[in-house]
Amino acid sequence: MNKDIERVIFSEEDLASTVHKLGAQISEDYKDRKLLLVSILKGSIMFMSDLMRSITIPCEIDFMAVSSYGSGTKSSGTVRILKDLDRDIRGYDVLIVEDILDSGMTLNYLMDLLYGRDPNSIRICTLFDKPERRKVDIYANYSGLEVPDEFIVGYGLDYNEKYRNLPYIGVLKREIYEDKE
Ligand code: IMP
Ligand code: MG
Repeated sequence: MNKDIERVIFSEEDLASTVHKLGAQISEDYKDRKLLLVSILKGSIMFMSDLMRSITIPCEIDFMAVSSYGSGTKSSGTVRILKDLDRDIRGYDVLIVEDILDSGMTLNYLMDLLYGRDPNSIRICTLFDKPERRKVDIYANYSGLEVPDEFIVGYGLDYNEKYRNLPYIGVLKREIYEDKE
């Protein structure tokens, strides 16, 4: 295990079975729809690539990159679009694929933005949820695992752009991020 990780909270097997269940449910719900998965870079890349392989119906994919955190561990409240979608989403059933729903500020902003572009429908699928930390009234239609109010890394999630490549989810040792914000 990486020396900066205090403990592992979800193993590769936990993640695989969670993602598989979400994929099966989405495949059922979107059977006759025009499904477009919108992955929010970069945190959701591993989730996206596993989720799309668990989806058994036709779908298209696109990516958006936003920045809301800077280098700390808390949302700044301002969301910047670093990369927008490649297409017009009118007529699509958009499913936003996000790594973690924390304060909810990022997704709240994105939902408003994408709604304004007139899709057929729009929903949220998040792998992790920290409900205790919510600052705005937003919930995920598909949610994998609830996590406590601790900073987690791995499986795409970073701290200062590091640890994304860990195949499991671990809690970062406090000494790594304390006094650095
Ligand atoms: P929100 O706007 O506060 O909901 O922030 C959501 C974004 O913050 C996620 O997409 C992650 O990139 C990041 N984030 C929130 N909590 C964690 C965490 O525990 N570990 C790593 N990234 C996190
Ligand atoms: Mg991040």
